[in-house]
Amino acid sequence: MSLPQRVRLVEVGPRDGLQNEKQPISVADKVRLVDDLSAAGLGYIEVGSFVSPKWVPQMAGSAEVFAGIEQRPGVTYAALTPNLQGLEAALAAGVKEVAVFAAASEAFSQRNINCSIAESLKRFKPLMDTARQHGVRVRGYVSCVLGCPYEGEVAAEQVAAVAGELQAMGCYEVSLGDTIGVGTAGGVRHLFEVVGRHVPRERLAGHFHDTYGQALANIYASLLEGIAVFDSSVAGLGGCPYAKGATGNVASEDVLYLLQGLGIETGVDLPRLIETGQRISRVLGRESASRVARARAHLE
Ligand code: HMG
Ligand code: MG
Repeated sequence: MSLPQRVRLVEVGPRDGLQNEKQPISVADKVRLVDDLSAAGLGYIEVGSFVSPKWVPQMAGSAEVFAGIEQRPGVTYAALTPNLQGLEAALAAGVKEVAVFAAASEAFSQRNINCSIAESLKRFKPLMDTARQHGVRVRGYVSCVLGCPYEGEVAAEQVAAVAGELQAMGCYEVSLGDTIGVGTAGGVRHLFEVVGRHVPRERLAGHFHDTYGQALANIYASLLEGIAVFDSSVAGLGGCPYAKGATGNVASEDVLYLLQGLGIETGVDLPRLIETGQRISRVLGRESASRVARARAHLE
């Protein structure tokens, strides 16, 4: 299969990245991060989540972040919502697109959202109905698609079943998450082959954490499988609070560098993205996890 000419990057740093930070990050810093990302050319930014503040305290200020950002035309500003209560809070904050998340493993579902996979899918139904009434598009995530921190191996057929349900429920796109970053290129190709029989590939996305350093190889493997949407996090921020030891998402800068090398269009400006990553890394008081950003910093 030939590679796609264009890839859509879904920037999840402000949500998937920052949700895992223990230290307080001001609303102003979060707003600045989102505005810098849109200025760098990212067309889709997951800004925050409307989840229980007891579970993920860092996301408690998401409504304020939405109120503070500059909403550039043509950019999608999305929020993660686990249930109807979350969607209602998102709607009140003026959010126009949301994402729901289900796991491919039972144990992870219990730890992450305190219910079984089947219950979580049932909970999404009223959310989907309300979203539809408000013209809000819903994206779906499946977590632990290449391995679970509690159960180990996860069957591709199980991922396909959950992804198929999310699509049938009305998710316009389903992002397959390697939450703990254990996947390999071979596993990724097999995964998309299996899931691709249930959900068309143009409605699938890849969401890779870089724990084992395989994320770029996994993205390349996904490209070969005809996948053209990838989630990534500026400066490689983050991890998942319910997946101990999982590091951040693959760094957006590194994905962009890979795609540029393949002649694939994204509309994103690499130097501005690097600056954005350096800025938030300074706020967090640590070095960026992006290899490209580090290499460029050493050239300066
Ligand atoms: P629960 O405790 O089972 O919920 O949590 P509940 O319905 O029994 O409600 C308990 C309390 O939470 C109540 O408050 C509710 O009002 C409140 P209280 O009466 O005790 O004061 N509550 C909420 N508050 C704010 N917003 C809401 C909300 N819902 C209930 N939406 C729940 C269930 C799903 C809420 C909880 O487990 C939760 O918030 N989990 C979030 C977990 C999370 O955000 N995880 C990280 C994101 S997923 C991820 O990172 C993976 C991904 O990146 C893909 C990948 O990498 O694979 C997407
Ligand atoms: Mg994630």
